[in-house]
Amino acid sequence: MPKKMIHDFGRMKDAGEKIAWLTAYDFPTAQFAEAAGIDMLLVGDSLGMCVYGYPNTIPVTMDQCIVHCEAVRRGAPDTFVIGDMPFMSYQSSVEKGIENAGRFLKEAAVDAIKLEGGRRILPMVRGILDAGIVVVGHIGLTPQSSGQLGGHKAQGRTVESARALIEDALALEEAGIQMLLLEAVPPEVGGFITRRLSIPVLSIGAGMHCDGQLLIVSDLIGQFQAFTPKFVRKYCNVAEVVTSAMKEYAADVRAGRFPEDEHCYHMLEGEYEKFQEMVKRYEV
Ligand code: KIV
Repeated sequence: MPKKMIHDFGRMKDAGEKIAWLTAYDFPTAQFAEAAGIDMLLVGDSLGMCVYGYPNTIPVTMDQCIVHCEAVRRGAPDTFVIGDMPFMSYQSSVEKGIENAGRFLKEAAVDAIKLEGGRRILPMVRGILDAGIVVVGHIGLTPQSSGQLGGHKAQGRTVESARALIEDALALEEAGIQMLLLEAVPPEVGGFITRRLSIPVLSIGAGMHCDGQLLIVSDLIGQFQAFTPKFVRKYCNVAEVVTSAMKEYAADVRAGRFPEDEHCYHMLEGEYEKFQEMVKRYEV
């Protein structure tokens, strides 16, 4: 399948074709996603929780994000890959935001970057866009500022909160972002913003009326154990499959059922007889 680029997602919105978006953090998962025909990949800062076992995304660094983006790029050379700007990689100044956004492209060859926030990060968004970088916005539940939101809570559930989201979405579109992600927002609000904006509006927990969906791959495959958000559908249970395979392996080792002859490297033809002769001098 030819690689989809940013304008293809706009065309998909106009044609009413839904966009299937997933996170990926490593080479094999990126290969699976590309083979599965996933439209876009996000190397999310959720890697902090899904890969490193941090309690949240706050400790994630630029260097970690770059390393994982490089692996995903190698695994999915023909898929649109988005790098996620981690906490404090853009909040402190426009210049820092532009430099760090640039690192994603220069060092990991991603196609776009994503950053969290609405009107209050417009200067950073404009700076990064002016540098010629494709920007994906992210509003609603924004985990990097979940402290201010009172925890990992759905947003836009009151008229005032919904109004703030609409204002943020309009301001980001006006600034020139090319796609917008809504996280944990009522479907009514997700649907309204999707209709109102001309750029693709994607959902992670923002309902069925958006132009496409994002899921965290570790949730989709049943790998992430700490908690399961309401918006997740698990399509398989890798944790169960892998744990049971490991238990079986340990039992086989302990019972002497593994390895078997088929797993062994035998000596070359004629060498065994010489080997028996040679070891005689070592026998006690
Ligand atoms: O880091 C990530 O995977 C994200 C999603 C939660 C939207 O930003």
